[in-house]
Amino acid sequence: MPARIGRRRAAGGLDGTTVTDEAHGETGAPLRTRTHTCGELRPDDVGAAVVLMGWVHKVRDLGGVTFLDVRDRYGITQVVARDGSEVLAAAKRVRAEFVLAVAGPVERRSAETLNPKLATGEVEVEARRIEVLSEARTPPFQIDEETPVSEEVRLRYRYLDLRRSRMRENLGLRHRITMAVRNSLDADGFWEIETPLLTKSTPEGARDYLVPSRLHPGSFYALPQSPQIFKQILMIAGADRYFQIVKCFRDEDLRADRQPEFTQIDIEMSFVDQEVVFAAVERLMQAVFRVVGREVPAPFPRLTYDDAMARYGSDKPDLRFEMPIQDASAVFRDGRFKVFRELVAGGGSVRALVVPDAGRQARAQIDNLVDEAIALGAKGLVWVRRSPEGAIQSSILKAAGEEALTRVVEQVAAGPDDLTLLAGGHGHEASVLLGQLRQRLASRAGLVDESATARAWVVDFPLMEWSETEQRLVSMHHPFTSPRREDLVRLEDDAAAVRARAYDLVLNGSEIGGGSIRIHDAELQARIFRLLKIDDAEAKARFGFFLDALRYGTPPHGGIALGLDRIVALVAREPSIRDVMAFPKTAAAVDLMAGSPSTVDRRQLRELHLDTSS
Ligand code: AMO
Repeated sequence: MPARIGRRRAAGGLDGTTVTDEAHGETGAPLRTRTHTCGELRPDDVGAAVVLMGWVHKVRDLGGVTFLDVRDRYGITQVVARDGSEVLAAAKRVRAEFVLAVAGPVERRSAETLNPKLATGEVEVEARRIEVLSEARTPPFQIDEETPVSEEVRLRYRYLDLRRSRMRENLGLRHRITMAVRNSLDADGFWEIETPLLTKSTPEGARDYLVPSRLHPGSFYALPQSPQIFKQILMIAGADRYFQIVKCFRDEDLRADRQPEFTQIDIEMSFVDQEVVFAAVERLMQAVFRVVGREVPAPFPRLTYDDAMARYGSDKPDLRFEMPIQDASAVFRDGRFKVFRELVAGGGSVRALVVPDAGRQARAQIDNLVDEAIALGAKGLVWVRRSPEGAIQSSILKAAGEEALTRVVEQVAAGPDDLTLLAGGHGHEASVLLGQLRQRLASRAGLVDESATARAWVVDFPLMEWSETEQRLVSMHHPFTSPRREDLVRLEDDAAAVRARAYDLVLNGSEIGGGSIRIHDAELQARIFRLLKIDDAEAKARFGFFLDALRYGTPPHGGIALGLDRIVALVAREPSIRDVMAFPKTAAAVDLMAGSPSTVDRRQLRELHLDTSS
């Protein structure tokens, strides 16, 4: 990005005022007007009188001459204070992170002092005046990319961490992506409409953050887990195409890609089917990637939930590499190996993962892999490989026999140097295990192309799944998701087999968005609530207003929400969304800088009717 703001001018104020004497530092008046940013000066500017303002990045005191690197959001410019000039003494007094105004002429650097790493590296400013605008304490860490700093210290002193170039670039990228999103949706006819933050619970599967009401003792607002119900009501209201870049709040266990408050690009459209939603989101994602100069072809590939689970063991498969999981059940159906034979007879399956070029490793390493699988929850992991002479070797050679195992490696097309891993289980169990190993082994073997943008729509999710903890069916997305029309007949008899008109957008193994075509019929919505064991009274109390709204003329509609933090992290190639958020919370949901959550005084609690002790 060009490190430049506003219109470029040789010696004019950034706000358009003319800077003459002041820029030269000839007057005693305070230096008020910055003429250029610290990323802006080039050889063309040599001779111009400028005023720069910024933070002292580095001081190099060489005795008769002192160099100050002055930094701002736009870059770094070298300032030189030479022997004999009045400013030398001032330059010697400044320390790292002081905020300065510096006035003087731009000069070309001598050949031996050119710095090709800096955009301004061909020039320097010869200081005629240096004014300290603000002093700084010694920072707890140096503001550069080289010094390792713990995340705890970075978060506690976030204002210093954000001065570092990596974080500054991430914030800039986030801004540009956000603008690209707005522009793309605006061009597609969407309206940005705000919905309330003090609201009522929307079921998205996490716990709510609650806000006690002062005026209504014992009543609470919920911070939205998403604007789901409001955006659907906006469709009923005729908004047709809505979007919002919106904070959502979920009290759930945190990970590198989960924060208690995060930002969604929330979208809803009327009179559309899945295809229209996909096309709008694909245009939006193309605009996002264009921000970093990448063209991604559309339409994006699609795969069904069942295929994703069977082939990659995940509903957010990393498609930057292949390594598909295959079905090896047939070989074992009538084979000698009892464990797999009985499993297949009982409706289970044996799944296989071929790990390229992993067959030649030491036995101890393969044993470690088996231990790793067990640590992941597997009952066991079978391996098969060929010796350099071509003989079959396997952890179940005796039990299964050479002939069956030869058939397996042939069927899964394992090469002579490959390692074949086999796991058995019911449902998607074995695939899920092999899917986790697939991901780990591919990254260890360097098979993941870090520069790839492997996108896919995962479609046809199940509408509901059985929850062991709750002992009832729960929505896989949320209860407003429409079942597929052809599956409606099975709704009451075999709900678990009903597919939803729901979809996720997956990028490099990360779920960056999820949405669906919604139920627009109040009767069907009531049927779904009944299946989810949300009785009429509860449905009325929680969503009565919405169920009423559905009865006043609801257009068919659908939408999606994309995780802005995750998208920016992926584009920036940051492993954690914390590094693309200005003020994230720790894994324990704490803001180390502001010190929240915190206790409040009893008076406040009493006002909120939370402290009932006298
Ligand atoms: P969903 O719950 O799938 O859908 O959320 C949409 C997207 O938001 C991002 N996301 C998160 N990002 C960071 N931290 C979190 N804790 C977090 N939780 C979710 C993910 C996810 O794909 N109302 C529906 C959308 C719809 O149906 O239109 C919803 O919220 O990238």
